[in-house]
Amino acid sequence: MVKIAILGYGTVGSGVFEVVRRNRNAITNKIGEEIEVKYVLDLKTFEDDPVMEVLTSNYDDIINDDEVKIVCETMGGVKPAYEFTKRALESGKSVCTSNKELVEKHGPKLLKIAKANNCSYLFEASVGGGIPIIRPLRTSLAQEEILSITGILNGTTNYILTKMETEGLAFEDVLKRAQEKGYAERNPDADILGFDACRKIAILTSLAYGKNVDYADILTEGITAVTGTDFAYAKKMGATIKLFAKSLKKDGKYYALVAPFMVTSENPLYAVNGVFNAILLNCNMGGETMYYGKGAGKLATASAVVADVLDCAKHIGKNLDTKWDEEKLEISPVDSAVRRFFVRVLGNDLAGIQKIFGEVELYDGVAEGECGFVTGEMSEAEYRQRAAEAGNVITMIRMD
Ligand code: HSE
Repeated sequence: MVKIAILGYGTVGSGVFEVVRRNRNAITNKIGEEIEVKYVLDLKTFEDDPVMEVLTSNYDDIINDDEVKIVCETMGGVKPAYEFTKRALESGKSVCTSNKELVEKHGPKLLKIAKANNCSYLFEASVGGGIPIIRPLRTSLAQEEILSITGILNGTTNYILTKMETEGLAFEDVLKRAQEKGYAERNPDADILGFDACRKIAILTSLAYGKNVDYADILTEGITAVTGTDFAYAKKMGATIKLFAKSLKKDGKYYALVAPFMVTSENPLYAVNGVFNAILLNCNMGGETMYYGKGAGKLATASAVVADVLDCAKHIGKNLDTKWDEEKLEISPVDSAVRRFFVRVLGNDLAGIQKIFGEVELYDGVAEGECGFVTGEMSEAEYRQRAAEAGNVITMIRMD
C-alpha cells in the first residue's frame, strides 16, 4: 500500500480523491499496489463528504508522517505552494502537481531539490489538463530533436473562437456565455490575453530543449481584437482563427510566440474545437505527432495527476529525472521570424497594396469599404515597416 496526501480540496484536489477511490481496482491491477489517500489538507470543512475522515488543516501532520510517500499539490498559486512543495521534496516525498504557475516559475529549482532527495517532481497536469504531453516529451521523445511545438493550450479562448465562428457571435457575448457556463474565470484576463497559454508553452519549450524559458520573453497577443469580420474573411479563405502557442528551433535559434493565427484545413489543429486542447509536435526523426483531449476540468486534470502518482509509486526512493536546467534559453526576437500575413486595409486599391507589400492574394467584397489580402513570406520587422508605410491597416493576423 502506498499512502499519499492531497494539498487543497478544490476542483483538482477533490478530483484526485475521486479518481483514486473510483479507479481503486484498476490502479491496484496496474501497479500491483493499492494507493490510499491518508490526508487531505484544507482549511475548510466539507460536511457529508467522505474526505472528512482524512481532512487535516495542519501541514506538519503530512510532513512528519513517514508513511506518506507522495504529495499531490493541487492548491494552485505560488504561495504557499512553493514552500509546501519544497518541504515535501526535502523530506524525500515525491510531489505531483497541476500547478502551472509554480512549475513555470520554479520548475528547475524544484526538480533539483527532488533529485538531491531521491524523489520526484512531476507535473503532467500542468499543461493540457488530461492530455499526456509532459511524459511524451520527457520519455517517449527523448531521442528526438524537437523542431517545433504548436499548441491550442487554452480551452476558454478556443471555446470563444469556436462560438464566434459557428454562431456568428461577438467576442464579448461569447465571453459572457463562457463565464455563465463556468468555462471562463470571473476574471478572464489570463486566458483572453494569452498569458495562460504563454505559461504553458514556456513549460513545454523548456522541456523540449532542457533549458529554462522565461515566459516574459515570449511575445503574447490574446484574442480580444478578433472580430466577426475576421472570421468572414477566414471562411472565404477556407480557414479558421485559432490562438496558437508556438515555439520552434531554426538555424540554432529559438523562437516562441502566442497569438491568433489563420489556420487552413490542411493543419490538423484546424479541427480542434470548443474547450478541447491539442499539441502538434514536429520532430526531426519521427515527424509529426499530435496530442488531443480535455485541457481542463476536474476529472481530466485529476487523472493526469494520478498518472504521475502511479509513476512515483513504482519508483519510491528513486528520482524520475526531468531535464530542465536553470540556465536560460535565449528566445530570439520575433522581428526576424519569417511568415505570411493576412492583412485587412481600408479601400481596395490592389495596385497600391502590391506596390508596398509585393504580390498578394486578394480577398475583396467581404466587408464594406475594405479588402483583405495574404502577403508572401517576409519577416515580422519587414511586415511592420510596410504596414506603417501603407498607413491604412485595420488588422493583421499571422498565417500558419
Ligand atoms: N483557464 C484554463 C483554460 C484552465 O481555459 O484552458 C486550464 O489551465
